[in-house]
Amino acid sequence: MLELKQLTRVYQRAGSDSFTAVDNVSLQVMHGDFVSIIGKSGSGKSTLMNMIVGLLRPTSGKVLIDGEDLWAMDDKNMAGMRSSKIGYVPQGMSLLSNLTVLDNVRLPFCLADTRGSGIEETMSLLKELGIETLADRYPWQLSGGEMRRTAIARALINDPEILIADEPTCDLDEETTKEVMELFSNIHSRGVTILMVTHEYEITSYGSRLCTMSSGKLMEKKVSR
Ligand SMILES: Nc1ncnc2c1ncn2[C@@H]1O[C@H](COP(=O)(O)OP(=O)(O)OP(=O)(O)O)[C@@H](O)[C@H]1O
Ligand SMILES: [Mg+2]
Repeated sequence: MLELKQLTRVYQRAGSDSFTAVDNVSLQVMHGDFVSIIGKSGSGKSTLMNMIVGLLRPTSGKVLIDGEDLWAMDDKNMAGMRSSKIGYVPQGMSLLSNLTVLDNVRLPFCLADTRGSGIEETMSLLKELGIETLADRYPWQLSGGEMRRTAIARALINDPEILIADEPTCDLDEETTKEVMELFSNIHSRGVTILMVTHEYEITSYGSRLCTMSSGKLMEKKVSR
């Protein structure tokens, strides 16, 4: 369902220096895969994810989603593709601080759809994720794990085909990490394809495929699971 073809991103740095953050990456992700990408800080993981979700234009190469070339689309079609097929949990704190949990999570629903307020859909999703009692709180009233769950709920509100998560367990303690990863396992067993970036080797065991990223290059590791 997701195919990366020789994807490359070059950043221009001060002067005429250029730096290749993502270097000729090709990957095929099938429906039902759970792919983990592990790599050191600075290896190009977030740059790669931002190109896949339509936030950062590749220098060269293609991102195909269900056979459609994401970066060849006009703005409207790209926005439609992003909101209907892709759920994204960005790295770090990404909630809007002046919105409650309920409003943060239902925002993509309201932007994508004219079916209604999204309140009912959001509440049932929050319940599924065990955070329904937090609906009226603001991000600054949440723990790190609760913020992460809220960001995951927001990524799931439009029923995406693929969930893309950039370091979803970064800064979480061992127990909360386990809770978040079990949540990912449940989402995966519901039929959602997952692509996750991490630098923690232990949590890659939740995935079905493992890739490593080093100096912008991606390599798949053979795993027996
Ligand atoms: N806008 C930019 N301009 C120039 N260089 C950049 C820019 N964004 C990122 N880089 C560089 O590209 C490289 C890859 O950055 P990226 O954020 O993709 O790494 P990462 O693997 O996600 O790291 P981390 O694990 O710390 O999140 C780094 O060396 C970074 O300094
Ligand atoms: Mg990153």
